[in-house]
Amino acid sequence: MDEQTVLQALAGLPLGPVRYLDSVDSTNAEAVRWLESGAPDRALVAADGQTHARGRMGRTWYTPAGSALAFSLALRFAQTSQQGGLIGRLVATGALAVSDALSRDYNIPTEIKWPNDVLIQRRKVAGVLCEAQWQGKGLVSVVLGVGVNVNKRSIPPAQDLNYPATCVESELGGPVVRYELLRNILSYLLIRIDNLDSDQFLQDWENRLAFRGEWVQIIDGRHAVDGQALGVNEDGSLRLLTTAGEVISVYAGDVHLRPTE
Ligand code: BTN
Repeated sequence: MDEQTVLQALAGLPLGPVRYLDSVDSTNAEAVRWLESGAPDRALVAADGQTHARGRMGRTWYTPAGSALAFSLALRFAQTSQQGGLIGRLVATGALAVSDALSRDYNIPTEIKWPNDVLIQRRKVAGVLCEAQWQGKGLVSVVLGVGVNVNKRSIPPAQDLNYPATCVESELGGPVVRYELLRNILSYLLIRIDNLDSDQFLQDWENRLAFRGEWVQIIDGRHAVDGQALGVNEDGSLRLLTTAGEVISVYAGDVHLRPTE
């Protein structure tokens, strides 16, 4: 992908300014730097490759040049502390938008592994990392970063995988034009961001929730809780029916979700 092609593909979308880079440490890091120096709402950073991409829980993310989609949307908010659940929902918008594009435009069924992974046939194809910027207790901006494995080179070596992975081309059985996929995902994402509070949003998320009704294990580093995944709450937390028969809410933070064998 080159800058001109990407800018042409994104023309007409309700985005702020777009920065396209052949290589960057991390599109999220670049978007944070840009926000600090005044990026407007909906400014977008996209890159062909990343050298130090960030994943959840301090993990790294793999983006060799020419293999994947990597982009970060800078979102600004009127400063308020009334932001309960906003970040959880934003994470879900990223996953839902990838899922929208893959299912509607490429006919590939997807599921969302709470909180932020897009799965095809129970293998991870995309991840979302939101990074929030605060002033005191007020949320001022969020960088919503999305990484999608497009061709086989985007899949990390087996020893680096903490969950089975796949890529869009393997599932489609043919080539994918990355700038078209980028435009498709962004157009769904921008609509979803405008409808964060809708009931439809929560319904779509629940309908696509992987392992819904199945037994899963939530691991937060030291503790593990087994339960049945029931659905998602308005604030983006996961509703879990524990083996003790109690319904609890699990917040994303530092947790892993694994299906139990
Ligand atoms: C995860 O599943 O752990 C989240 C991965 C998020 C990766 C994307 S790639 C674009 C953006 N820039 C980053 O440094 N990370 C996100």
